[in-house]
Amino acid sequence: MAPGTELPEKKLLRALAGVETHGVPLWMMRQAGRYLPEYREVRAKAGGFLNLCYTPELAEEVTLQPIRRYGFDAAILFSDILVVPDALGQKVAFKEGEGPVLEPITDGKGLAALSSPARVTEHLTPVYEAVERLSRSLPKETALIGFAGAPWTVATYMVGGRGSPDQAAAKLWAYREPDEFQKLMDILVEATVEHLSAQVLAGAEVVQIFDTWAGSLPELSFERFALRPVKAIRELLQARFPGLPVIAFPRGAGAMSVRYFQETGVTGLSLDTGVSPAWAREHLQSRGCVQGNLDPLLLVAGGDEMKTQALHILETLGEGPFIFNLGHGIVPQTPPEHVGELVKLVQEWRR
Ligand code: CP3
Repeated sequence: MAPGTELPEKKLLRALAGVETHGVPLWMMRQAGRYLPEYREVRAKAGGFLNLCYTPELAEEVTLQPIRRYGFDAAILFSDILVVPDALGQKVAFKEGEGPVLEPITDGKGLAALSSPARVTEHLTPVYEAVERLSRSLPKETALIGFAGAPWTVATYMVGGRGSPDQAAAKLWAYREPDEFQKLMDILVEATVEHLSAQVLAGAEVVQIFDTWAGSLPELSFERFALRPVKAIRELLQARFPGLPVIAFPRGAGAMSVRYFQETGVTGLSLDTGVSPAWAREHLQSRGCVQGNLDPLLLVAGGDEMKTQALHILETLGEGPFIFNLGHGIVPQTPPEHVGELVKLVQEWRR
C-alpha cells in the first residue's frame, strides 16, 4: 500500500495488504469452467474457446457465473494465458479434447517473425472490454483479478507447440542456447507487462501470474527463467501502479519458494498442494500473504475427507494473511455441490 492510501474494504484486498479480515477470503483457480453446466451452455454457443475469450459479453457472463452461484470474494477474468502468444502473431488453436495447439517456435527466425510485444494490447482490446464490463457489473464486495502466464510457462507452450509432461522442447532450447532463449523471455516480459497494465487500467484490482511449470526447472534455470522474469514484471508493473497487489503461482517450486517470494517481491504467493501448510506458515507467511492449497481432487471426492483437509489448512494458515484457494485449478469432473459445501465451510470457519 502506498503511504497515505486508505485501507481497502474488500476482504481479498485486505488480506493482500496484510490487514485484519473478518473471515478468510476465498476464490478458486479455474472457478469458471466446464464443471458448471451454465458454462458449458455458453461455451457451446460461443463456437470456439478463443471466441469465448474475445467476446466481451460472453467472457463477462462466464466470469460472473461462479460469483452468482457461490459468492466468492474475487472474480478472475475469464481468458487464457495463451492469448499473449496469439497476440504476438503465433497461431494458437484450442482443439476439442486435445487442449491448446500452437505452431512451435524453435529458433531465432521464429522469434523474428513475432509481432512487437509493445503492441499486444491492440489485438487484445476485447479482453480489456470484458474487464471494464466486469468492473461495473460485479458486486461491490467482490475483487476483480486480472492475470497472465509467467514467461517460462507461456514459453513451454510456444516452443513445444502443446502441453507436455516434461517441457523438454523449451528446456533443451534454454540449456543449449540460453542467450537466444533469453530473447524470448524478454519479449514475454514486455508483452506481459503491457497486457497486465491494460487490465489494470480497465479495472483489475489485483493481478495473478501463473507459472504452472516453474517447478520443472533446476535451481540455476529457475533463478534465470522463473524468478527473474517475474521479478522484472512485478517491478515494471508497480512502477506504473504503486501498491498494485501481485500474486504469483510458481507451481512446484517447493523450498525455492522462500527465495522466490523474497526476491520477486510479489505481494502474495499461491501455493500448490505439495506445500506443507505448517512449513508455509513458518517460512512464507511472515513475508506476506499466502494463498492455497487444497487438492482439487479433494473437491471431486467431497465428503469428510475434503472437510478434514480444508480445516487442516484453515487451522494452520487461517490467522492470516491468507486467501483460501486450491493447489491448482478446479477439474471438469468436480460436482458443483461440493464447491458449495467447501465455500460454506470456509465462510463459517471461526465466525
Ligand atoms: O476461471 C478461471 O480461472 C479463469 C480462466 C482461466 C482459464 N485458463 C480458462 C480455460 C485461467 C486463469 C487459465 C490459466 C491457464 N491456461 C493456465 C495456468 C493455470 C493452470 O491451470 O495451470 C494454463 C497452463 C493454461 C493453458 C490452457 N488453457 C490449457 C493447458 C488448456 C487445456 C486444458 C483444459 O483445462 O482444457 C486451456 C483451456 C482452458 N482455459 C479452458 C478454460 C476454462 C477449457 C477450455 C474449454 O472450455 O474448452
